[in-house]
Amino acid sequence: MTCLSFIFGLCLVAGVIGAPSGTHVAPIRSRGVTIGPGDVPNGSHVNSRKPITAPNKTNVTTKGPSDAPNGTHVTSEGPTVAPMGAPVAATGPSPVSNAPSPSPKEKQVRAFFVFGDSLVDNGNNNFLYTSARADTLPYGIDSPAHQPTGRFSNGLNIPDVISEYIGSEPLLPYLSPQLNDQKLLVGANFASAGIGILNDTGYQFMNVLRMPLQIEYFKEYQQRLSGVVGDKRAKQLVNQALLFISLGGNDFVNNYYLFPFSDRASQIKLHQYVPYLISEYRKILVQLYDLGARRVIVMGPGPLGCAPAERALHGINGECAPQLQNASILFESQLAQMTQDLNVKYGSNVFIGANAPRMHRDMISDPQSFGFVSSSTACCGQGPFNGIGLCTELSFLCNNRDEYVFWDAFHPSERASRLIVKKIMDGANEYMKPMNLSTIMYIDSYM
Ligand SMILES: *[C@@H]1O[C@H](CO)[C@@H](O)[C@H](O)[C@H]1NC(C)=O
Ligand SMILES: *[C@@H]1O[C@H](CO)[C@@H](O)[C@H](O)[C@H]1NC(C)=O
Ligand SMILES: *[C@@H]1O[C@H](CO)[C@@H](O)[C@H](O)[C@H]1NC(C)=O
Ligand SMILES: *[C@@H]1O[C@H](CO)[C@@H](O)[C@H](O)[C@H]1NC(C)=O
Ligand SMILES: *[C@@H]1O[C@H](CO)[C@@H](O)[C@H](O)[C@H]1NC(C)=O
Ligand SMILES: *[C@@H]1O[C@H](CO)[C@@H](O)[C@H](O)[C@H]1NC(C)=O
Ligand SMILES: *[C@@H]1O[C@H](CO)[C@@H](O)[C@H](O)[C@H]1NC(C)=O
Repeated sequence: MTCLSFIFGLCLVAGVIGAPSGTHVAPIRSRGVTIGPGDVPNGSHVNSRKPITAPNKTNVTTKGPSDAPNGTHVTSEGPTVAPMGAPVAATGPSPVSNAPSPSPKEKQVRAFFVFGDSLVDNGNNNFLYTSARADTLPYGIDSPAHQPTGRFSNGLNIPDVISEYIGSEPLLPYLSPQLNDQKLLVGANFASAGIGILNDTGYQFMNVLRMPLQIEYFKEYQQRLSGVVGDKRAKQLVNQALLFISLGGNDFVNNYYLFPFSDRASQIKLHQYVPYLISEYRKILVQLYDLGARRVIVMGPGPLGCAPAERALHGINGECAPQLQNASILFESQLAQMTQDLNVKYGSNVFIGANAPRMHRDMISDPQSFGFVSSSTACCGQGPFNGIGLCTELSFLCNNRDEYVFWDAFHPSERASRLIVKKIMDGANEYMKPMNLSTIMYIDSYM
C-alpha cells in the first residue's frame, strides 16, 4: 500500500498505511520517498471500524445562521431555505408560507448526488478495507463533533458546503447504514478516496469504490428510492437533482506519475494520456445521463503541481512542480471542451464545467489577500511544506486551520473549500462553464 492522500486525489508517498496490524508489507518506493512501516501509525484497523461519525443532523455546522451563505434565495422565497439541520421538507406538509405564489420547488429541497474521489468522499471508505481513509484525528478536528468523519479535511468538504447553499442537510455516504427511507430523498454520496477515471488507478488502495461500482450503486439507490416513493417520483427526483463529480487527480498522481517510470508513463505520452482519460471520463458522464442525471457539475484535478506534496518532491526551489501543473492544465482545457460537446449532443446544458485549477489560482498566488498565511505549506504533515507523508496524530499541526489553503499534503482546508464553493456559486464564465450554480438554481426553479 502506498500513498495516502489524494486530493485532488493524490498520493504521494508511500508507506505502509493501512496494512492490517501485524501484516508485513514491504515499503513501496514511490517517487523517491520511502516510508517504512514503522514510520506510520496503523492507519486502518480492519476490525475496528468504528461507526461513521455522520454529522449530526441537528448540529450540522458550528456556524451560526448568520454565517449561512446567502446564495440560496434563488429557488426559494422563504421557508425552503432550510436552516442547517432543518428536516428535509420533502415529505411533510407544505410549509406555511407568506410568500405570494409559492414555487413548486418549495415543497422539496433538491436532491444531491456526489461521485468521485477523496476531494468529495464524505466517509464511504470508513466502511471499506482500504488504506485510503481519513478516520483518525486530526482529520475532522474542526467538524461539528470535532471527530474524524472520513472527509479529507479539517472539517467540512466541498459537497457539504454545496449542501448548505442548496438548503439541504449534508449527504450521507452511500455505505452508511443510516441511509434509508426518508434519508434517501436527500440524495447520497458515492465518492471514494483513491479512485480515478481508470479502473487501475489507486489499485494500491485495494477495496475502494471505483467508478463502475459507484455507478452500480447509483442504480441500486434508484431501486431503493423507487421502493419508498414509487417509480415515477423516484425518476423525477433524479431528473431534478444536482450532481457533482470530481475525478482525474488520482489518474496522474496514483497512476501515471506514481513511480518515476510507471508502466503507463513508459507506454504512453502525456499528450496521448490526457485525451484517453477524457474519453473515459466522457463515458462515465454519459452513463450518469442515461441514469437520469440532468444537472452535473464536473470537476477535474486542481493545480496538482502546487500541492504541498508536489512542491516538496518535485518543485524546484519550492515552486509548483511544472510537470504536474502542465498535466492539470492540459486536462482542464480538454475537460471543458468535452463537457460542452456533450451539451451540444444532448441539446441542453446538462454538464457544467468547474475549472478547479482556476479556482485555486488566486488563493495560491496571493494567499494573503484571502486571509491565508500560506498556500504552499500544509497545515498538517511533516517535512518540507509539511508535504511529506500522511497527516497523523504525530504530524505537525498548525494552530489555525483557517490560515492555510491546504489542510494536508493534497486536500484543501474547509476554509479553502468554502472559497472554492463560492466560485462554484457565483463565479464568472472562466470558473464555471457555461454558468454558475446560482444561475442554475435560478433557471431550475422555473422548471
Ligand atoms: C499497530 O500494529 C502493531 C504491530 O502489529 C501493534 O503492536 C500495535 O499495537 C498497533 N497499533 C495500533 C494503534 O493498533
Ligand atoms: C446526535 O444528536 C443526538 C441527539 O441530540 C445525540 O444523542 C448524539 O450523541 C449526537 N451524535 C453525535 C455524533 O454527536
Ligand atoms: C446575508 O444577508 C444578511 C442580511 O441580508 C447579511 O446581514 C449577512 O451578512 C449576509 N451574509 C453573507 C454571508 O453574505
Ligand atoms: C448539538 O447542539 C446541541 C444544542 O445546540 C449541543 O448541546 C450539543 O452539544 C451539540 N452536539 C454536537 C455534537 O455538537
Ligand atoms: C472499467 O471497468 C468497467 C466494468 O468492469 C468496464 O466496463 C470498463 O470498460 C473499464 N474501463 C476501462 C477503461 O478499462
Ligand atoms: C510544460 O509546458 C510548457 C509549455 O507547454 C513546456 O514548455 C514545458 O517544457 C512543460 N514542462 C514540463 C516539465 O513538462
Ligand atoms: C454568476 O452568479 C452571479 C450571481 O450570484 C451572477 O450575477 C453572475 O452573472 C453569474 N455569472 C455568470 C457568468 O453566469
